Amino acid sequence: MKFIVCDDYNEMSKEAAAIAAAQIKEKSNTVLGLATGSTPVGMYKELIEMNKKGEISFKDVVTYNLDEYYPISPENNQSYRYFMNENLFNHIDIDMDNTHVLNGLADDPEKECESFDKAIEEAGFVDLQVLGIGRNGHIAFNEPDSILYAGTHVTGLTQNTIEANSRFFDSVDQVPTKALTMGIGSILKAEKIIILISGKDKKEALKKLKGEFIDPQCPATMLMAHRNVTVICDKEAWND
Ligand code: F6R
Repeated sequence: MKFIVCDDYNEMSKEAAAIAAAQIKEKSNTVLGLATGSTPVGMYKELIEMNKKGEISFKDVVTYNLDEYYPISPENNQSYRYFMNENLFNHIDIDMDNTHVLNGLADDPEKECESFDKAIEEAGFVDLQVLGIGRNGHIAFNEPDSILYAGTHVTGLTQNTIEANSRFFDSVDQVPTKALTMGIGSILKAEKIIILISGKDKKEALKKLKGEFIDPQCPATMLMAHRNVTVICDKEAWND
């Protein structure tokens, strides 16, 4: 695992955007794995700027998002589909048909998850996966547990995550209690992974990532099993 420690959130965002831009320049039909949440927003802003300046094009880029609440309508302004449109897709030259977010209204959520993994495989797997991390070490909606799912699946949210995510909702009881999420195995199939970590709230999770043990109680430590992971963090999250 490689660690890049940046001075602050802005520098972290620029660093991450530069890696994504280099990937897209190298392979115009790159398959990107994308995350929602506060952390990648700065990176998305940088990518939008680069696209506006004509430095990169998303014309042939294909995206798969990590997760979506369930049940939730894509039009709901708290859905991850809405988030991606607002924070990235609506501002770049991407073909919307090439953007994939799990359907939060799927009649058969298990089937939706299965089809998602199949679609990623058919697309040739993710070239560059962007991740954030929860305070408890979750990645996507893979919460700490004694066993973790390999493939994309339906999951319950922990109270910790419901509370953390309630900042985006009017009240905590409006946060959906379930989600559809890529599993650890689906994430590890990506060719390259970058994980963005910012702020002192994430210190404990980052400390475990710097450690020696793979611990399902800190799902992000599963990334130690992958051969091309770059942690891009700011000084606040770094423990020294
Ligand atoms: C979002 C996701 C989550 C977030 C994590 C951190 O698609 O998969 O695992 O990356 O909850 O969220 P923020 O960045 O808001 O701290």
